[in-house]
Amino acid sequence: MMVEIRQLGEHVGEQVTICGWVEATRGHGKVAFTVVRDGTGVLQGVLLKAGVDDATWEAQQSLTQESLVALTGEVKEDARAPGGYELGVTSVELLSGADEYPIQPKEHGVDFLLDHRHLWLRSSMQRAGLRVRAEVEQSIHDFMYNNDFVRIDTPILTGAIGEHAGTLFETDYFGDSAYMAQTGQLYVEAACPAFRRVYCFGPTFRAEKSKTRRHLTEFWMVEPEVAFADSNANMELQEQFVSYIVERALERCQEELKVLERDTALLEQVKPPFPRMSYTRAVERLQELGSDIEWGRDLGAADEAMLMEEHDLPLFVHDYPKEAKAFYMKENPDDPRTVLCDDLLAPEGYGEIIGGSQREDDLNLLESRIREEGLPEEAYAWYLDLRRYGTFPHSGFGLGVERTVAWITGRHHIRELIPFPRLMNRLYP
Ligand code: 4AD
Ligand code: MG
Repeated sequence: MMVEIRQLGEHVGEQVTICGWVEATRGHGKVAFTVVRDGTGVLQGVLLKAGVDDATWEAQQSLTQESLVALTGEVKEDARAPGGYELGVTSVELLSGADEYPIQPKEHGVDFLLDHRHLWLRSSMQRAGLRVRAEVEQSIHDFMYNNDFVRIDTPILTGAIGEHAGTLFETDYFGDSAYMAQTGQLYVEAACPAFRRVYCFGPTFRAEKSKTRRHLTEFWMVEPEVAFADSNANMELQEQFVSYIVERALERCQEELKVLERDTALLEQVKPPFPRMSYTRAVERLQELGSDIEWGRDLGAADEAMLMEEHDLPLFVHDYPKEAKAFYMKENPDDPRTVLCDDLLAPEGYGEIIGGSQREDDLNLLESRIREEGLPEEAYAWYLDLRRYGTFPHSGFGLGVERTVAWITGRHHIRELIPFPRLMNRLYP
């Protein structure tokens, strides 16, 4: 009977067949071990030379790394074995062989590994990271569903700039120009009067000319948008949301976090409320710490890192200067040099994982912001309509999935937390 490795516990003492890829083989002489992975787990098969015919022994001895094999034998409980079970192998059937495998159990350079990403995915650390990613994505949908959000799928080909003119991927669209979506925000704003609480979740694109550990040119973002929420309510939603995601990963990805050697002590403390600090106060604090930052400039990665040395929990920095942020953010009535927005900074050096804001709901102010930014007004006519037909206070945010998963898994570079990373110098594989 063919079974999956994860089901072995139900078959102790029975004869079963496992189909999987060979991770490693060892042993000569009297006993040989074959470690196979079938996508549901890893199993060690034990073959005794005395117990099988020569052809079976030879078949095991000639297995190469990543060849596909069917092992048949009796399932045995063994606390020392990875996964807790072993297979007493009596039959070895090679289903398809493998050429010499490029990824060996030794140190490889990251460029080499990225060139072989289609194979690198099979290794234990990568599997663990991507499983946490899948759990994070599922927990995002579950949180939204449980809190009455309606999912809105927003377009990837767009006619208007969503965030900044500087980082657009432009493509020919039947003789016109289209932009790859930098955000779905403007579209979820439009869906708010239809459903009140909405979100989109999909890939977004930015022609980032920076090669840093936290920039991809294609990344996944979840963007909730809520009618009648102000900036304060927006931050409350963010801290509940992030706490839920972290809690789910801690609860359901224990094995993976162990493989990744993640120290989870700080993650376990991630619960609302998160501390808050105004941008103006953050600049003062950075100056006290010796930074040469001046009021008006957006916080860079180095500023965020310096600020976060004093924080173990995620930190909201709110109300940034208007010039540092996108055109759609609402002017702060208490200080019109600033806008009602927040960035959520993750601890342990991971920096900004969320950008959020209350949206400008005043038609005239929004029109003048679009003009000031030199954006093409025609492309925003539909967006301005939202302020013409029953304009309403609303807020939302975008959480970057890869940065969040990098933080939860403790991996240094976000490129490992997306199956096929797109970077400035990488479109392959
Ligand atoms: O701060 P950003 O640019 O905000 C927006 O796009 C808003 N429209 C969101 C909204 O209010 N609906 O991006 C949001 C998040 C960042 O905090 C970061 O986590 C992630 O998206 N992000 C990136 N992740 C990887 N690579 C990049 N190049 C990223 N740029 C942004
Ligand atoms: Mg941002």
